[in-house]
Amino acid sequence: DWTTGNVIDEQVAAIRELVGDKRAICGLSGGVDSAVAAALVQKAIGSQLTCVYVDHGLMRKGETEQVEKDFVAATGVQLKVVDAEERFLKALAGVSDPEEKRKIIGREFIRVFEQAQAEIIADEGPAVEFLVQGTLYPDVVESGGGTGTANIKSHHNVGGLPEDLEFKLIEPLRKLFKDEVRMVGQELGLPDEIVHRQPFPGPGLGIRIVGEVTKERLDLLREADAIAREELTAAGLDRDIWQCPVVLLADVRSVGVQGDGRTYGHPIVLRPVSSEDAMTADWSRLPYDVLAKISTRITNEVRDVNRVVLDVTSKPPGTIEWE
Ligand code: XMP
Repeated sequence: DWTTGNVIDEQVAAIRELVGDKRAICGLSGGVDSAVAAALVQKAIGSQLTCVYVDHGLMRKGETEQVEKDFVAATGVQLKVVDAEERFLKALAGVSDPEEKRKIIGREFIRVFEQAQAEIIADEGPAVEFLVQGTLYPDVVESGGGTGTANIKSHHNVGGLPEDLEFKLIEPLRKLFKDEVRMVGQELGLPDEIVHRQPFPGPGLGIRIVGEVTKERLDLLREADAIAREELTAAGLDRDIWQCPVVLLADVRSVGVQGDGRTYGHPIVLRPVSSEDAMTADWSRLPYDVLAKISTRITNEVRDVNRVVLDVTSKPPGTIEWE
């Protein structure tokens, strides 16, 4: 019988047997898959597992805290957080090309992760022999990653780390589909915000700023994104849309008016889409009143943003993300 309880019991027993008294490492991304995989392994081997979370400074508002506080509180997992924001910003300085950004973020991520890994291995304790990955069944079947346009954009994914495998892999979600993973996560007591998180790209907000990525622009986009998410949640639309990228057109300015003054600010793009698997997508017909609320709030509350526009392109020809 397939029940989440059975899946958990089976995996816990198998992982215990496999790992013995050795140690394991798991990279957390803030996403559902790595969180559920880590929680399962934590349940099996406890403090023999160490999780690594690389804070690249490109996360949305509150997401790093969600991992650092809520995930740790829910699982008791041993977590090593690496604050690498400055390093990423430095590496991204002056870069506007989307593919170049993706490559830089992916490269820096691997370097920081490997450094953290080396530190954990150097710690006192049994040998670190295992690496936990949140690979799902669809990833196994069409080993392209399952999130769409991997051949069009160079994907960065925590699940793909590291490249030179000196580790044995633990992939406790290999037989599961996404909805089953969410059920297992729920059963393991993970917070709703993590279990029901919509897809979010590994390179984070770095590929949602059209133009150079700077700390100032990231903060601005984080505010706009938080408002959009808040209003979509308040309207009960989270489960109706697949995801809603919020994009800052940092290289574009347009003229506006506020009070009796002229403004010259940036546009924010809302990109709400509905989809089954991210391979194809349609733009979501969101209620006008929700769009109006988001637009009013963003232009009122976010400095330097004086216009909100809606992306009404399906995929294809548009991709879901702008970069
Ligand atoms: P596109 O923009 O290619 O996106 O239509 C398809 C889906 O993939 C997500 N995406 C990524 N996910 N690493 C990820 O883990 C990435 O580098 C990446 N790029 C895009 C995107 O959010 C959408 O769900």
